[in-house]
Amino acid sequence: MQTSPTNQTVRGTHDLIFSSARRYRHIVDTSFAVAARYGYGEIKTPIFEFTPVFSRTLGDASDIVSKEMYSFTDKGGDNLSLRPEGTAGVVRAYIEQGLKNQWPLKLFYEGPMFRYERPQKGRYRQFYQIGAELIGVEKPDADVETISLAHTLLNELGVGSKCYLEINSIGDKESRDAYRKVLVEYYSKHLERLSEDSKKRLSLNPLRILDSKEKGDIEVNRDAPKLLDHLNAVSREKFEYIQKRLNDLKIPFKINQHLVRGLDYYCHLVFEFRTSELGSQDAVLSGGRYDGLSEIMGGPATPAVGWAAGIERLSLLTAADPVAQRAVCLIPIGDKAESYCLTLAHSLRQDGFLVDMGYSGNLSNRMKKAASHNCYAALIVGDNELSTGEFGLKILDSGEQIKLREADLKTKLRELILK
Ligand code: HAM
Repeated sequence: MQTSPTNQTVRGTHDLIFSSARRYRHIVDTSFAVAARYGYGEIKTPIFEFTPVFSRTLGDASDIVSKEMYSFTDKGGDNLSLRPEGTAGVVRAYIEQGLKNQWPLKLFYEGPMFRYERPQKGRYRQFYQIGAELIGVEKPDADVETISLAHTLLNELGVGSKCYLEINSIGDKESRDAYRKVLVEYYSKHLERLSEDSKKRLSLNPLRILDSKEKGDIEVNRDAPKLLDHLNAVSREKFEYIQKRLNDLKIPFKINQHLVRGLDYYCHLVFEFRTSELGSQDAVLSGGRYDGLSEIMGGPATPAVGWAAGIERLSLLTAADPVAQRAVCLIPIGDKAESYCLTLAHSLRQDGFLVDMGYSGNLSNRMKKAASHNCYAALIVGDNELSTGEFGLKILDSGEQIKLREADLKTKLRELILK
């Protein structure tokens, strides 16, 4: 057996540290702040669930269930899976906690998801999502509000101008069944031009052939019957209503009749905010309506709509690093100064200041360290300073030296931070 390395990450996983961790935190904090304005509260579901939570809901023919799940049997013999997405776990929680009487429920989450995909830029095996689920509203106004939340959030993260919204309707079951029939008839006439994957999909999930990226499939799809021509009156009305309201909100969108999404639980509206800046991994934020999911999982009939976005993809689109808060660095010289600085740092931190400690090395090295840690000032404390009660504060960006007394330290630091 090959031994696994002890000093490297598993393919498709990554550490978040310093600037990448800061970006992550910024995206998550901004998302929760925007979601709170729309009335969302947080939900945290477990990272692993019983495998059927996912396998029965996402669809046997979906890529996730057929080849991407991290499933295992635990020591008690239970068949478990690391969650590949957030919606099924949220609906499981909704059913288990009996939350129907709390409709409408607005739940927001963030956290890691796991899919055994081929890693590339913007596609990982452990990746992070933020997601929003609006449970218990049948009216298509809920779909519009959900898109409005996504639109506002992308703008607030500064990536809105790099994304475009595509929408489609896959209708209700009646519309989809009627459409599936004509689609299968059409593809059967062009079987020899379809890719091997699409041939397999023809019996399992022919709608997925519509969003194939294979050249031959794309050509066949050009003349394929259109889903929107097969929507029944109810489905068409809902979709038209959504388009009108999006226009009212001045949220630009394009109808993409080939957008069908890869998960089985969707009905009616499906949508994606895409970008042209990430190569083939162009979906930044994706979602849709999933009215049938709760019932499939043994819960009450429940209308619901939601979306999720990949944090790494949002992070790749974010141009500037979020500004890190800067600390003042205390540099003690000698034993007495060290214990003095420990007490001073404790007091400053209790008052809300960010404080770094220049622990060891000669003075010049410690000053260099303080600058490389992006501190805005260094306070040098030696025997002389302790006996006179007067300190030298060096502003690291400008090199300016300020003499001050201990009693004035907090006021001066506050002034510097506000500058
Ligand atoms: P999804 O399209 O599978 O939908 O994933 C949502 C988003 O997660 C994608 O748009 C993409 O940004 C990101 N993503 C997916 N796979 C990866 C990966 N391997 N690496 C990096 N990022 C990835 C869902 O997960 C549904 N639960 C969305 C939803 C919520 N629908 C209704 N409610």
